[in-house]
Amino acid sequence: MITVALSKGRLFKDFIKFLQTKGLDYYAAPLQEEGRYLFREINQVKFIFAKGADVPTYVEQGIADLGIVGLDTITENRFNVLNVSQLPFGECRLAIAGPPGLTEKELKVVATSFTNISQQYFNQQRQDVRLIHLKGSVELAPILGLADAIVDVVQTGTTLKENNLQEYRTIMDIQARLIANKQAFYLKEHDVYQFMQEIGVV
Ligand code: PRP
Ligand code: MG
Repeated sequence: MITVALSKGRLFKDFIKFLQTKGLDYYAAPLQEEGRYLFREINQVKFIFAKGADVPTYVEQGIADLGIVGLDTITENRFNVLNVSQLPFGECRLAIAGPPGLTEKELKVVATSFTNISQQYFNQQRQDVRLIHLKGSVELAPILGLADAIVDVVQTGTTLKENNLQEYRTIMDIQARLIANKQAFYLKEHDVYQFMQEIGVV
């Protein structure tokens, strides 16, 4: 038996689609049943549903053996986990965006949930920017005057468009990653490998 931590939300939907295209309906069907359940056991695999940003914590602490998480999450905060492989879904990007007419170099205050990645980016650019940390709905900040612009995840671009914001620059391409607990990856090698083979990553 292995435990796999999944992110609720968008990445979860992408994972379900991925399972369906692989013909793995015996996983996909029970996983997408309606409800507020927080874990599901299917075929000797226990899936737990966590907030995306918490997935690496469950894996690092050995509560989960494997985790599926966005590259943004494991880049923003360092975790002591194995970054096993890239997964072919969850494509999106981290971008700087703001009102039309403004340029990147004019930015003084930027709101983001990704303060570490943003700080590193603006340091590299030698641009002095004050960062404001927000946990969600970051697009509100430039609209309400809390910040000049944002650094946030863009997937379809709909949120930016509907709020009349423009993308200035992509600072990171994102896709889903498979991460593993360091001990479990070797101690449960057989089960871990079997699951990875099932989903086609080895
Ligand atoms: C994410 C992200 C953007 C939006 C991008 O927010 O922070 O706001 O999705 O997707 P799009 O380009 O397809 O519109 P989410 O909906 O997860 O909510 P949150 O920021 O409040 O957590
Ligand atoms: Mg958002």
